[in-house]
Amino acid sequence: MTESTIESILHENRTFNPPETFAKDATIGSMEQYQALYDRAATDPAKFWEELAESELDWFEKWHTALDWQPPVAKWFDGGKLNITYNCLDRHLTTWRKNKAAIIWEGEPGDSRTYTYAQLHREVCKAANAIKAMGVNKGDRVGIYMPMVPEAAIAMLACARIGAVHSVVFGGFSAEALRDRLNDGEAKLVITADGGYRKDKTIPLKSAVDAALADNAAPTVTNVLVVQRTGQDVIMQEGRDVWWHDLVGAASADCPPEPMDSEDMLFVLYTSGSTGKPKGVVHTTGGYNLYTHVTTKWTFDLKDTDVFWCTADVGWITGHSYIIYGPLSNGATSLMYEGVPRPSNPGCFWDVIEKYGVTIFYTAPTAIRAFIKMGDDLPEARDLSSLRLLGTVGEPINPEAWMWYHTVIGKEKCPIVDTWWQTETGGFMLTPLPGATPTKPGSATKPFPGILADVVDLDGNSVGANEGGYLVVKHPWPSMMRTVYGDFDRFRRSYWEHIPAKDGNFMYFAGDGARKDADGYFWVMGRVDDVINVSGHRLGTMEIESALVSHPAVAEAAVVGKPDDLKGEAVVAFVILDGGYTGGDDLAKELKAHVTQEIGAIARPDDIRFAEDLPKTRSGKIMRRLLRNLASGQEIAGDTSTLQDRSVLDKLRG
Ligand code: PRX
Repeated sequence: MTESTIESILHENRTFNPPETFAKDATIGSMEQYQALYDRAATDPAKFWEELAESELDWFEKWHTALDWQPPVAKWFDGGKLNITYNCLDRHLTTWRKNKAAIIWEGEPGDSRTYTYAQLHREVCKAANAIKAMGVNKGDRVGIYMPMVPEAAIAMLACARIGAVHSVVFGGFSAEALRDRLNDGEAKLVITADGGYRKDKTIPLKSAVDAALADNAAPTVTNVLVVQRTGQDVIMQEGRDVWWHDLVGAASADCPPEPMDSEDMLFVLYTSGSTGKPKGVVHTTGGYNLYTHVTTKWTFDLKDTDVFWCTADVGWITGHSYIIYGPLSNGATSLMYEGVPRPSNPGCFWDVIEKYGVTIFYTAPTAIRAFIKMGDDLPEARDLSSLRLLGTVGEPINPEAWMWYHTVIGKEKCPIVDTWWQTETGGFMLTPLPGATPTKPGSATKPFPGILADVVDLDGNSVGANEGGYLVVKHPWPSMMRTVYGDFDRFRRSYWEHIPAKDGNFMYFAGDGARKDADGYFWVMGRVDDVINVSGHRLGTMEIESALVSHPAVAEAAVVGKPDDLKGEAVVAFVILDGGYTGGDDLAKELKAHVTQEIGAIARPDDIRFAEDLPKTRSGKIMRRLLRNLASGQEIAGDTSTLQDRSVLDKLRG
């Protein structure tokens, strides 16, 4: 965050009450109601969730234990059997929702498709039978590397239908990043497309899969299922690659849902941490189904008439929880859009809202800041009157952006839900409930009922009002991650050992800094570890450093974030070259391209600074804090007494 953003967040004191008309029709329509719900849940969270599991989901068999908590291992609804696709599809078919739109899809070159619940069910069953025929069994992992087309959602649901574990890899990741994720998850099958549309270009996906699998570099993968999207030329390898339309097209539409144990793995999704390679975050079936269902229902105050649009890509947790599972479990209409705003079509989001009469719009602060730059004329030229609720996610929203969203898009009549959560949490943790919670621009307000969140110091003591500290959660919740795929020890170390247990409460450490104000509102200030947040995308500085060091010219690299008006943070890399290389524009360009190839364009450094040395402690640790000051052109702040060689700083300043 820029200093002016931090300043404005610290002094923000405007409050916006839920509009009366909104509160009147809301499921949770007052702060008293929220508080009563919150208090009841906090007294006995397991009972609270158990009651909801009973009333909100369909189970094939009931659980014997609501919560089994052996820190840090939580089992929710153990012994229960269900299938998330039954809750997302089958149960709606016996109601009037059978012919309601489940997914409305707007394609990038102007094509569109709508799937009713009955049609989506049929397509999912066909795809499920097709992947079963390719030898995929319950428990096997399936990589999904797709553009934002309905087949991405169908592929995910098809895996869940037969009990296979999906591992979606964002289509913007490179072949190398895809290969690492396929290998870590030991995927048997990859589902992809020939290509996808992104910003007026087509991007190759199948050829990236070919590169990832070349020379038997991902040996567990035996098949590739390919959706035809762009029609671009692809090479189909005999015996390995099959077209979706051939196999799924011919498959039977009869596929009963596999009964899954509540704690059976539903999916793995990779996210960046402060050390090492990306972590495969594991989510299981019952708790995730329940939590995404309830958070979607209450936070978006869903009505059957809503057209709900979450602008995320299905490659991220937001797409998993709030394009697919949460909305479909509620029988809602979920809109999926393949495009992104860009200079050639800056008003495309507003066109989509007008075309489909979107009622709930959920996007990221970085997008809102880009819209502000594009000018008010674009949204003002469209009819946005269908909107009744707005949401944001991914990074702290600066109050200026919040106010613009509130006035220009929401016309001062739509509540804004600023939802704080993570890949690891599965669903919203801090969020307003739009008919109840008065909002303050820049604050994710209060914990969702059943979530015992707090701000503590390193010893686990709650800090006072407006004192900064670490954001923690003190009681397990149904959709918390269960482990890091294949590395339970890393799970324990990353989330459960930073802050000691206090009064019998184990503390989930989120990695974010926060403060609570005198009204108990949470203000999330950003990461406290070596993770940076670029346009709402989470990147580990170490991953980018490893990518840089894998280039022959680079001896050492240190990556930090620097505040950026549009992206939140920009990537700055300090690079020490190997003897024989000299820094310059060409090499900087080459290194940026190298990172794009190793990870993907989202990790491309904005700024490469060649250096002779890096500021280190006497024990050899890079002092990133000082590099962050340098990158953002600030004065060096704080203690520098542990610095090994002070002249390094002067040289870096230039
Ligand atoms: O730093 C927080 C930030 O995004 C991180 C989680 O990133 P990821 O796992 O990729 O999930 C993003 C979508 C849920 C958090 O640790 N973050 C997310 N939402 C907010 C936020 N920071 C402030 N306010 C938010 N609403």
